[in-house]
Amino acid sequence: MPAKRSVPPLSVAVIGTGLVGSELISQLLSLPSPSPFILVALVSLTGSLFSPTGLSVTKDTWRSTLKASNAKPDLQALVEQLSPLDRVVVVDNTAAQAVADLYPEFLRRGIHVATPNKKAFSGSQELYDQILQASKESGARWLNESTVGAGLPVVQTLKDMVASGDKIKKIEGVFSGTMSYIFNEFSTASPDGPSFSSVVRVAKEKGYTEPHPADDLNGADVCRKLSILARSIPTFQNALPEGYKSVANRSLVPPALESVTNGAEFVDRLNEFDAEFDKLRSEARAEGSVLRFVGVVDVEQGVIKADLAKYSVTHPFATSLGGSDNIIMFHTERYSPRPLIVQGAGAGAAVTAMGVMGDLFKLVL
Ligand SMILES: NC(=O)c1ccc[n+]([C@@H]2O[C@H](COP(=O)([O-])OP(=O)(O)OC[C@H]3O[C@@H](n4cnc5c(N)ncnc54)[C@H](OP(=O)(O)O)[C@@H]3O)[C@@H](O)[C@H]2O)c1
Ligand SMILES: *[C@@H]1O[C@H](CO)[C@@H](O)[C@H](O)[C@H]1NC(C)=O
Ligand SMILES: *[C@@H]1O[C@H](CO)[C@@H](O)[C@H](O)[C@H]1NC(C)=O
Repeated sequence: MPAKRSVPPLSVAVIGTGLVGSELISQLLSLPSPSPFILVALVSLTGSLFSPTGLSVTKDTWRSTLKASNAKPDLQALVEQLSPLDRVVVVDNTAAQAVADLYPEFLRRGIHVATPNKKAFSGSQELYDQILQASKESGARWLNESTVGAGLPVVQTLKDMVASGDKIKKIEGVFSGTMSYIFNEFSTASPDGPSFSSVVRVAKEKGYTEPHPADDLNGADVCRKLSILARSIPTFQNALPEGYKSVANRSLVPPALESVTNGAEFVDRLNEFDAEFDKLRSEARAEGSVLRFVGVVDVEQGVIKADLAKYSVTHPFATSLGGSDNIIMFHTERYSPRPLIVQGAGAGAAVTAMGVMGDLFKLVL
């Protein structure tokens, strides 16, 4: 093997130090030396640190150092600080639209962007086009593997299929860890089962749902993931003017509860609708099927939708899911008649941060 070129390390600026951000910082600062990365900036809602030659922090001290900083977070200032650096990537670990809106600016300045934040890529066509354009002009890259299926290899798998000339026929999957858990518990092959409201209550208690479970049950998260996948397929690149809002959506939030803004009250009142969900489950069972909340990108039919659907009790969506797993089936010209299936934990800080780390390694290989 030829000797490795010695390239200077890639500068990394991290925005957002919540669950995923903290884990990412920890993984980054635990790499064996010499690391291909140096951490040059940390920005949270309350503080910020920047040093163009690398912060003097370890995985045990970064948090207290950041806490002690009295520099106010200022994203525009960060753009200016990072612009002069030679090779630099911003990692956005927030769910903030305000940060997503800055991607075109970062990219125009030659700053790469890697993120698990779905907001930019599943939003308006206008923002998406600005991202494409800015990246094209400067050559800076944007990487989004963890936006769908967390650490599971979904976006890159699709990208490789498209780039190598495979024809995508249909992508079908369980994309929400929360919806996965809820229906894995609620709808099984066995004749009895718990009520829908009791399953949602337990899911909330275990911390599997958003503080307000309607934010999971409305299907929006699935629509965002579908728009990211669809836009990575040439046929659909311009098909979603309003991003996730242009995806056909089935909300499981009962209309009568749409105005309930308190999560606890929502769960308390959900039992008024148990009979409706029971009926759907019985209908499925009578056909030898279970209910699953799925997302579908059907290229042949031109359909992109999130929906509650029935699957035979022998189908992988019925037999192989546990906990809050995601499962994604790629039906393509090459993977036909048997699809390529990707399955595993679709949420959690450790796997999500790994997906982002994988994106960072793509920039240094
Ligand atoms: N957790 C998962 O399993 C998972 C899986 C796939 C994708 N994701 C995505 O990963 C992202 C992070 O998720 P998470 O679970 O880590 O959420 P989180 O714990 O709520 O962390 C988000 C962090 O962003 C910070 N933040 C928000 N707005 C900011 C701004 N304008 N500037 C700087 N920092 C800001 C918040 O700061 P404060 O702490 O000061 O409030 C918070 O620490 C989200 O986009 C999420 O959708 C998460
Ligand atoms: C889905 O539809 C519901 C109403 O049925 C709406 O509240 C929700 O915002 C919609 N979600 C998306 C992603 O369009
Ligand atoms: C995700 O990122 C890849 C580059 O890694 C890109 O080709 C693809 O278009 C992106 N998709 C979206 C919706 O951002």
